[in-house]
Amino acid sequence: MTRRAKGPPKWLEAAKKRTPGSAGDSWLSRSLSRAGVLPLQRAEDAIREGRVAVDGRVVTEAFTPVNASSRVSLDGQLVSLAFTSRVLAFHKPAGLVTHGSDPEGIGTVFDGLARVLPEGLQRFGWHAVGRLDRDTTGLLLFTNDERFVAHATSPTTHLPKRYVAKVGADVTEWMLKTLRAGVDLEDGRTREASAQARGEREVELTLTEGRYHQVKRMLQAVGLATLSLHREAIGEVTCEVALGEYRELSAEEIAGQLYFTPRS
Ligand code: URA
Repeated sequence: MTRRAKGPPKWLEAAKKRTPGSAGDSWLSRSLSRAGVLPLQRAEDAIREGRVAVDGRVVTEAFTPVNASSRVSLDGQLVSLAFTSRVLAFHKPAGLVTHGSDPEGIGTVFDGLARVLPEGLQRFGWHAVGRLDRDTTGLLLFTNDERFVAHATSPTTHLPKRYVAKVGADVTEWMLKTLRAGVDLEDGRTREASAQARGEREVELTLTEGRYHQVKRMLQAVGLATLSLHREAIGEVTCEVALGEYRELSAEEIAGQLYFTPRS
């Protein structure tokens, strides 16, 4: 008889590879966090501690597969895994990093968001939609729906992101033309963009892709040092909330201004 090599069970490997967001099927910790039962880390802890049951059996593996018909309970209480797509518009202050891990203790956007969220919204697992540099301010979206992350960050969606940069020299027509046409960076030529001067030393740039440090590298390529950078808009959603605050977008805004069909 052939023995299977020791290692993770096949279903666990399959669950880890499953495409995020496929209708009902998912794994337990993720389903609990996107439905707003417990954020991901707390969901994983609760599962490990034996506080979660699926169809009447206690499970201790966060990647246990679940679907729309699974009966899930936490601490003996039935919970619903049904979820709707939620999107938060957060005004990121300078100084916060967009990573989940923060070994240097600088402070993350997740900490910043948690400080202003009411209890009900703290129970969701929030994903930052793309990244902003530590010193960049402005609009950062968060969502509980991985499909929205994929939509908003994929270059194939062409979702426009509008930035304004204060720069270290006067902005010339040649610079603007070059930025519009596309500049050659180490990772390839940038797409056509919209660029205009707002003042002698301020540039507005609208991109439909989002590469690492893209705005700063594009400005550098035309001889402009970035002194400060702010993201004003994503799609047609503008950064209207006060610094460090958030607001939740309606399903109509998600569909009409971010061109995504939310799960309702
Ligand atoms: N481009 C950058 O260079 N930095 C950001 O934070 C966002 C876009």
